Amino acid sequence: MRFGRAAVGYHLHRLWTCGEDLGSDDPPGTGVTAEWQPGASAAFVSAIDYPLYVVTACAGGEMSGCLAGFVTQASIDPVRFLVCVSKVNHTYGVARRSRGLGVHLLGSDQRAVASLFGEQSGDQIDKFQGIAWSTGATGSPILSECAAWIEGNVVDLIDGGDHEAFLITVTAGGAGTRPGRFMRTDATDFEAGHPQ
Ligand SMILES: Cc1cc2nc3c(=O)[nH]c(=O)nc-3n(C[C@H](O)[C@H](O)[C@H](O)COP(=O)(O)O)c2cc1C
Repeated sequence: MRFGRAAVGYHLHRLWTCGEDLGSDDPPGTGVTAEWQPGASAAFVSAIDYPLYVVTACAGGEMSGCLAGFVTQASIDPVRFLVCVSKVNHTYGVARRSRGLGVHLLGSDQRAVASLFGEQSGDQIDKFQGIAWSTGATGSPILSECAAWIEGNVVDLIDGGDHEAFLITVTAGGAGTRPGRFMRTDATDFEAGHPQ
């Protein structure tokens, strides 16, 4: 099976949200080919699970935030994380102008917060109205309710394709009160608020 560019974006969107095995029409054992085939990686992507985070930023008085799964620790000393933000998201424009980012691990009972940040866009609504937050040292909004949080200064940007990876050096953080973890497999029915 071959996919055009739009279809590739659609597949990535579905891999965020569904995690289902999209399969491939290619016969097994065809090996590596020069042409990228999204279906070939779907089995790998759908086999992994990971926590979902709320990534926040603020620049020029404008706040933004989105749900993100593409987040990972990148260094122990200094403590650094990679946070990958889609270039079409409202959050991306704000994050590019922001000194730092806030990153929040959500508790297993925070489905409504996950939906707010993952299924709505700052292009349409103010996600910070009606939830409790405070301003962090980087200027990023820090959610009052979460399982744990960090914030850090952006020290590098890496172009990942349709996402950009923000490398942050952690400057503050703390434990939250919400138990458990809200995982990607808890959000298989979510529809991203800002589709690719
Ligand atoms: C399960 C799930 C995982 C997501 N992971 C990411 C991600 O890693 N990076 C990202 O930029 N957007 C991700 N998104 C999409 C955004 O959270 C979503 O499009 C959001 O509505 C964008 O909000 P904004 O336009 O206010 O920034 C994910 C969405 C869902 C439902």
